[in-house]
Order: sequence, then C-alpha cells, then structure tokens
Amino acid sequence: MFVHVLGAAAGGGFPQWNCNCRMCHGVRTGSINAKARTQSSIVLSGDGVNWVLFNTSPDLLAQLAAFPTLQPGRGIRDTAIKAIVFMDSQIDHTTGLLMLREGCPHQIYCSDAVHEDLTTGFPLFKMLTHWNGGVNRHPIPLDGSAFTIPEIDGLAFTAIPVKGKAPPYSPHRHDAHVGDNIGVQVTDTYSGKTLFYAPGLGDLTDATRVLMSASDCLLVDGTFWSENEMESVGLGEKKAADMGHLPQSGEHGMLEVLRPMDRPRKILIHINNTNPILDEDSEQRKKLVDEGVEVAFDGMDITL
Ligand code: MLT
Ligand code: MN
Ligand code: ZN
Repeated sequence: MFVHVLGAAAGGGFPQWNCNCRMCHGVRTGSINAKARTQSSIVLSGDGVNWVLFNTSPDLLAQLAAFPTLQPGRGIRDTAIKAIVFMDSQIDHTTGLLMLREGCPHQIYCSDAVHEDLTTGFPLFKMLTHWNGGVNRHPIPLDGSAFTIPEIDGLAFTAIPVKGKAPPYSPHRHDAHVGDNIGVQVTDTYSGKTLFYAPGLGDLTDATRVLMSASDCLLVDGTFWSENEMESVGLGEKKAADMGHLPQSGEHGMLEVLRPMDRPRKILIHINNTNPILDEDSEQRKKLVDEGVEVAFDGMDITL
C-alpha cells in the first residue's frame, strides 16, 4: 500500500491567510523551524497506478500539481484518482470537489450524515449535477463490514464512526449523528498490512482503541496540543472538545492513548496552525519525538 500525504494541516492551513499567531507569523517570516502545510488530505493506492483520494481540500489543485503521479497523462483528459472518500463534511475536507468538476461524474464514498450535509447545508453534490451528472454516491457501511472500491486493487476498507462534530452549516450540527465523522482502516490484501486514518477523533471508544492497537500505521487527529489552545493564543474560547478534537497533552489526551500501543507506527495529521508541535525545535515536539510519535507533512510517503 502506498500512502501519500497531500496536506497535513487542519482547516485554514499553515500559515492561515489572516493569522498572526506565533506559529503562523513564525513560519511566514522564517523565524521558527517549521514547514508550511496545506489542508487535510491523503491519497492511497494498492498498485501505485490507481489511487483513492481521501477528502478534497480547498488546496487540492496545488496538491495535485505537487504530486504528478496523480496525472499520468495517458489521454487528452486523464487522472489517476478513481474514487473519493469523505471523512466528514467540513469545508477543509470537501470544498476542493468543486475544483474537480471537469472530471464528473466522480465516485464518492461517504456516510449518510455526510451525504445529508452535502445535499442540504452545503449542497456541493446538488451543484455538481450540472456537470456531467455530478457524483455517483456510494454509502459507506458503518456496521464494521469491509467494502472495496472498483479499480482500487488490493485494498479493503472498513469504516467506523468516531466522535467529532458536524460543521456549522449541517442541519444536525447540534444533534450528533453516527457518521458525522468516521475513521477508516485500510488493509492491503496482499501484504496484510493496515493503516488507520482518522483526521478528526474527538474521543475514543473501546472499538476504536482495539482497531488502532492492531494497525500497522496510524494517521490520527493532531489538531491541538492542548484543550484550551485557541484561548491561550487569544483566538476565542472554543475548546478542542467543542470542535471534536482530542488534544495531545493532558490526562486522557492522545499521547496517553497512543503510549500503550506497541504495534503501530504513530503519526499525527490535521495539525492546526496554533499547535506548537509544528515548531520542530519546540518542547512539545521534543516530547513527541521521545514518545515515538511523528508529525505528518505535505509530501510524506508511507509504504505498508
Ligand atoms: C475542524 O476540523 O474542526 C474544522 O475543519 C475546522 C474548520 O475548518 O473550520
Ligand atoms: Mn478539519
Ligand atoms: Zn495561526
């Protein structure tokens, strides 16, 4: 299985266009040791030829330009992207679909809750019906059963609902639905290796912990270092939990969750621009290194 990180930042990217927090200012001016990152997306392939795209970020066109493998150039119009999976219906994970309108109809895999949001509060799917039929939507089973994707040879997918938040424009923003956010375990059916991907992970059920412990590689929610990070840098009162994200530090935080897991390679993804782990010389980043936890970056390749 080939995994390529297209974008490792959370919503807003790093630096965020209007943000002058210490991290955004630091990466913009070069005064901290940090890499800029685009918004949250990965691509996966079993054979290195046909790829499945997870999320369509607002930065998608730049991400595609930076990874020419996705443009094999076999015809006058061509792409290596055979299907798209949505982890939620947030702006940072879906808006880029509009930029792919010339390639409609797309094969889209998403939960019922995400489908509802993308046909009502943020009606991307309805808009795209005006481009060659728009999308062919395939429901993602959330009962623990595996699904496969035509043309994506050698990979099997199992989704689990995870705790998170529906976006502000969702009709059920204040009424959490199963499937608002999902995690996906991907199995290479030849090597038997597994990846667990969950860029939003507000809390962990026992089932999620079991799945994560048994995986070979984790790409999981790295949004915030601390529960009150936004407030501590002067950016409002929203807590990590209010936004559906489990912070790395603190009691029951992500580092505590990951510590007993011996098997998987542990990588954080969907990093918010306020998170001090983006500064490679920070105390917080050193702590991650000590704990054997990596931080994803744009262009990161993982082979399983
Ligand atoms: C989130 O993951 O919490 C959202 O994507 C934040 C946002 O982009 O507004
Ligand atoms: Mn997000
Ligand atoms: Zn910032």
